[in-house]
Amino acid sequence: MINFGIIGCGWIAEKAYLPIIAKMDDACVNAIFDIDYRKAHEIQHKYHVPNIFDNIDRFLSQPLDAVIIATPNNTHTYYTNMALNSGKHVLCEKPVALSKNDIESTIALAHAKNKIFLPAFVNRFREDIIKFSEMVSLIGEVKEAEVSWIRKSGIPRPGTWITNKAAAGGGALIDIGTHVIDIGLNFLSDKQIKSVKLDQGTIAQAKQNSAQWNINNESRQFELDAETWAKGEVYFINGSELKFNIDWSSNINEDITSIKVLGVNGTVSIDTLFGFSNNFTRDNIEILYDGTNGEYDKVLYSMNNTFAIDAFKNMISYFVNLINGQDAGILQPFDSVYVVDVIERLYKSV
Ligand SMILES: NC(=O)c1ccc[n+]([C@@H]2O[C@H](COP(=O)([O-])OP(=O)(O)OC[C@H]3O[C@@H](n4cnc5c(N)ncnc54)[C@H](O)[C@@H]3O)[C@@H](O)[C@H]2O)c1
Repeated sequence: MINFGIIGCGWIAEKAYLPIIAKMDDACVNAIFDIDYRKAHEIQHKYHVPNIFDNIDRFLSQPLDAVIIATPNNTHTYYTNMALNSGKHVLCEKPVALSKNDIESTIALAHAKNKIFLPAFVNRFREDIIKFSEMVSLIGEVKEAEVSWIRKSGIPRPGTWITNKAAAGGGALIDIGTHVIDIGLNFLSDKQIKSVKLDQGTIAQAKQNSAQWNINNESRQFELDAETWAKGEVYFINGSELKFNIDWSSNINEDITSIKVLGVNGTVSIDTLFGFSNNFTRDNIEILYDGTNGEYDKVLYSMNNTFAIDAFKNMISYFVNLINGQDAGILQPFDSVYVVDVIERLYKSV
């Protein structure tokens, strides 16, 4: 049985971690820590968590095996390193760190302490992305990946830490961009960056609308100064390329996540939707395989699926299996270095 502690019991802890772990046979949530004690108290009652803390040292002195970090982005490295130093395995929410230096120090620390550190790149565990990845393995060396996640009206809680550069490390790029950039990078064999290019901006009406799943009474205490859209390119030493287009609040009819991967033997593309939005009208997720020798394949999944929450279940089970010494394949700790490096360089380039 893996005893979990959770640091930060906000939206994602309630949406995914707490209800999922409550149903697992080989894991349980034993303690939670949040600077908002009232919130921790509410969660304790709702999910029958035995222990709650508003003191991090007392929380970390509990006999926990692993800690999930689900706090604002600028606290991830701090809490991750504290938890590793106290001998806990760590599953940290994206973006895991705001700089390459920070994430490298975390990975070195996990290694030194002989503990698992797993970045919560949950979309690797989606059923459609696993199928897509299998199809990409048929097209040979990848030359180019194009990733995009465009939302119709999906700014997460404007005026909270999420839309504030200092607290979140950036805006749409570091928030939803992290997910698709991770998927795109994973298909590229060379991760040595030659140069990067970023265009970004904040639309005025962005301050008015917000994601429909995030309307709440939270006080608006931060300035909305982060970018609401970002697009650009990352060029690699071997000539391959990653293009991205990320938007929290675009003038489109529905939300869409698209990935296209071009290899020497063909192209594979997917139109899907990551996250928990129901701002869509189309019926199907579509994966298309187009081989250079005329091979063709198409795979459809219903848009009304449970892939988003199932991906969290799969990721938590994967983490538990890693702790129990079972082999991993889908996601490695070091993958997070590539993503953090790309995003840090992009922000620094403007
Ligand atoms: N993978 C996904 O699909 C997904 C979705 C949403 C959020 N996230 C990530 O999860 C993390 C949390 O996001 P959220 O939407 O749940 O945020 P949230 O604001 O709803 O919750 C954050 C919680 O952390 C607490 N907190 C704030 N500062 C703290 C501190 N210094 N120490 C301890 N607790 C603190 C808050 O009181 C709150 O309960 C973020 O890193 C975000 O990027 C991931």
